[in-house]
Amino acid sequence: MEYIVDGGRRLHGEIEVYGAKNCALALLGATVLTKDAVTLKNCPEIADVENMLALLVSMGKKIVRENDTVTVWGELTTICAPRNIATLLRGSALVLGSTVAKYGKIALPLPGGCAIGARPMDIHIDGLRALGVETMIDDEMVSCCGSPEGTNYKLRFASVGATENMLCACALAKGTSRLYNCATEPEVVALEQMLVQMGATIYGVGGSDLTIVGTDELHGTEFDIIPDRIVTATYLSATVATLGDVTVTKCIPQHLDAFLSVLSPHFCVKKYDDAVKLNAMRPASGYGDVSTAPYPGFPTDMQSLLLSLACVAEGTTHIEEKLFENRLMHNATELSRMGADIAISGNIATVKGRKLHPAVVTAKDLRGGAGLVIATLSANGKSTVKGVEHINRGYSDLAQNLCKLGAKITVVD
Ligand code: EPZ
Repeated sequence: MEYIVDGGRRLHGEIEVYGAKNCALALLGATVLTKDAVTLKNCPEIADVENMLALLVSMGKKIVRENDTVTVWGELTTICAPRNIATLLRGSALVLGSTVAKYGKIALPLPGGCAIGARPMDIHIDGLRALGVETMIDDEMVSCCGSPEGTNYKLRFASVGATENMLCACALAKGTSRLYNCATEPEVVALEQMLVQMGATIYGVGGSDLTIVGTDELHGTEFDIIPDRIVTATYLSATVATLGDVTVTKCIPQHLDAFLSVLSPHFCVKKYDDAVKLNAMRPASGYGDVSTAPYPGFPTDMQSLLLSLACVAEGTTHIEEKLFENRLMHNATELSRMGADIAISGNIATVKGRKLHPAVVTAKDLRGGAGLVIATLSANGKSTVKGVEHINRGYSDLAQNLCKLGAKITVVD
């Protein structure tokens, strides 16, 4: 699938944000913790969520989707996750902790996902072993056996997925667990909140040090998936790239503080309770030095967006990608086809902004694809973005939504 982008048009108007992919995937993984019905509202209609639902169904869960509301219930009938689905997305890793906690075993093919780096699972494995779960990993499969027993554990890195798996494993563990250096991304906090609604006892919700008192069972609940902060940043980036004036609604502005602090010195940014209005009258004069970091630092998922904005600024930007080793190079190569001036040294990109010209570019990962769309929106004339299937993993109707704001994008199957 490809986008034909007729760039150079200012975006304007208002656009709503839908539920966050990375929140939906974590909460769907946690539905394994109870046979009761768990209803998730504001659940995005994107490929990764559909694949996660297919994974749960293939393991025995029952699901019903009514528009953006999904209900999941029932017992697993197998602890073996099917390879053909598990390898489609990274999110499949998020059934590890919940399945081990509820059923005492799991056989999970190593997850798929973006080609942004090696994406090992050593922290997930090490954490489960600390909980007394026998865990084996080879180059294809993670196998676990044993029920978690409360422990104290410090994550060597504040891994989002590892924190989410440990939260689920500890929620049904025998005894109390203290977890240190946990991720504090909004999607992780939403999982903590939903687990408490399901009957878990968690102290320190929202912080990096958590105490979880294990319980025998958890019950069903209803939960509103939080708005997607990366999609919000994507719409705002498209506005900047086209010197537009857009209001993004149904979002949580404080989830984008690090991103907005980079943009707000250059543009008129107004934050409301559940909306952000950005009016870009002129290009930025470069964005200085930006390094990605775990929340609340500058999110790695917004790095691809900023790389494109740096390319069309009127100055120099240095971007350091500290989380995923392959997240810079591919897009830098593709953006240079549009005339971008990007020099990569190690994990640092030095970008000298200039006007880009249209080109044919290829997406290789989800957020990189969004970054390429943003760059083509700024270039006057027709560009082609290939590999749109990567974009569809995490964005619902990106082209259609940008067209609502005045973009001219044709989708070619
Ligand atoms: C989650 O991935 C997100 N995915 C990613 O979003 C996001 O980029 C990432 O968190 C960081 O914010 C989902 O939530 C489904 P990590 P995850 O474990 O959990 C290293 C998107 O575009 N690490 O926080 O896989 C790892 O290699 C996706 O929506 C280990 O070394 O990220 C990386 O360098 C892309 N060992 C760093 O930690 C481990 O066991 C951050 O990874 C686990 C991670």
